[in-house]
Amino acid sequence: MEDSFRAILSRAAQTHRLTAAEIIPLLAARGEAEQALFAAADAVRAKWVGDDVHLRGLIEFSNYCHNDCLYCGLRRSNGRTRRYRMEPADIVAVAKAGVNLGYRTIVLQSGDDPWYTSAVLAQVVEEIKKLGVAVTLSIGERKKSEYRDLKLAGADRFLLKQETADPELYARLHPGQSYHHRVECLEWLAELGYQVGSGNMVGLPGQSLATLAEDLLFLQAKAVDMAGIGPFIPHPDTPLGGCRPGDVGLTLRVLAVARLLIPWAHLPATTALATLDSEGREKGLRSGANVIMPDLTPPPYHDAYEIYPGKGAPLPTDYHAAVRKLVARVGRRVAATVGHSVKPGQIKRHGDRSAVQG
Ligand code: 5AD
Repeated sequence: MEDSFRAILSRAAQTHRLTAAEIIPLLAARGEAEQALFAAADAVRAKWVGDDVHLRGLIEFSNYCHNDCLYCGLRRSNGRTRRYRMEPADIVAVAKAGVNLGYRTIVLQSGDDPWYTSAVLAQVVEEIKKLGVAVTLSIGERKKSEYRDLKLAGADRFLLKQETADPELYARLHPGQSYHHRVECLEWLAELGYQVGSGNMVGLPGQSLATLAEDLLFLQAKAVDMAGIGPFIPHPDTPLGGCRPGDVGLTLRVLAVARLLIPWAHLPATTALATLDSEGREKGLRSGANVIMPDLTPPPYHDAYEIYPGKGAPLPTDYHAAVRKLVARVGRRVAATVGHSVKPGQIKRHGDRSAVQG
């Protein structure tokens, strides 16, 4: 390992500041240097967010989408997807089952589906909030007034990935959408008091290490509370079906650099990572991640939420217990709190109990 690499890494672990020119060699690291990157990220993870792993129960309540993103199996032009919408009462029932399984956060995710007005969703949020858990929404772009209504209904967090911070690549991948508006939505969400999650895919065709460095600097500039970083997985019924999937090693390196740059943030070991690598979740948890988002969506809906191939595969009967075992296997523990993110300014770091929010 070169001295210059070692110097960048140890400075990043202390100052949490890096330029794009410094990030790129970290993303390209292999062998001993790559292991040093993972170890540095793991140490920063332990120092800032501790050994708790937060489990977020995910409900994919609709796979209708009015967007046509080139990579996504739910894109509106994909006529092969069996579309579904869960009834509001069913969504609440699944959330209750999730809370009974021990989940302290319920994530409501769907395609961009205006069939669910903010009034309908607000009622669902209100019902779920009565269960005493945190609610995260991942429902795409809405008017600011709708984001406001949902916040007032009790939603705590919102997940809206930038997907890529390269505006031109963004425009190519998202016909009819604009990067500028995406960022505007993220700014509204922060203004309204949501804990904001964003994130990007790794291995998109047309993406370079420089683009990924921009993604990481974007997440830092926006001081996001959470960042979902997962590999691109080609879906055969999309225009990108013939492309190569994202690289697992590179995804882990992006995750590790994210931990160095936004040390306070919640970083999931994503399902996409686990889809490409049977040890993906463990590897993620050892490279900076501190969150897992297990799927609560029941069949027959679960099978039809095929963002990428493999996503809808049947879940083993002991799935939820297995996730907890996995956490223990990597020497960590399942968090007992709802796990809001705590940024510097609100609290210095894990361990300073006086400033921890409930
Ligand atoms: N491969 C990997 N991730 C994908 N997503 C959508 N399509 C794909 C794909 N083909 C991710 C996007 C989106 C999230 C719900 O799933 O990042 O925000």
